[in-house]
Amino acid sequence: MEIFFDEQELAKVNEIKSKYPHSKAALMGVLWLAQKKFGWISKEVAEYIAKLLDLPPSHVDGVVSFYTMYFKKPMGKYHIQVCTNVSCMLRDGDLIFDHISKLLGIKNGEVTPDGLFSLEEVECMGACGGAPMIAINEDYYENIDIPFVENLISRLRNGNGTSA
Ligand code: FES
Repeated sequence: MEIFFDEQELAKVNEIKSKYPHSKAALMGVLWLAQKKFGWISKEVAEYIAKLLDLPPSHVDGVVSFYTMYFKKPMGKYHIQVCTNVSCMLRDGDLIFDHISKLLGIKNGEVTPDGLFSLEEVECMGACGGAPMIAINEDYYENIDIPFVENLISRLRNGNGTSA
């Protein structure tokens, strides 16, 4: 795959840059845009972004490796993040994680062979009031339980989900 932004995406990059006094501060937003387009931040994508923002590649690598929201390898079409931090864990977040893991046959950080799902155990996602919670791509699901999760995964598998 050729790594480049189209005209519309470059306009978005400029819009992000215009919000900050230095392009360094625009890096996270531009990386997010890149991840949405390319699916993950490969070495080639990181180099492209570094050039685009005129930043040292080592700085871009540092940001990508520090933040877990940037994928360092291809993930599933539906990336499931399960919070097992205190509030969620007290309301069975860890059991929900184990259940999804068994259901999909994958462990933390893995992708199903069909590329449909990936699973990640995460720290607090700032939705403790709705514990236990999971996120699938950018959608949050709160006050969930195992039957809800089973139903949701089955709907996504059959193309009836909402997590775009
Ligand atoms: S502990 Fe799960 S969202 Fe905060």
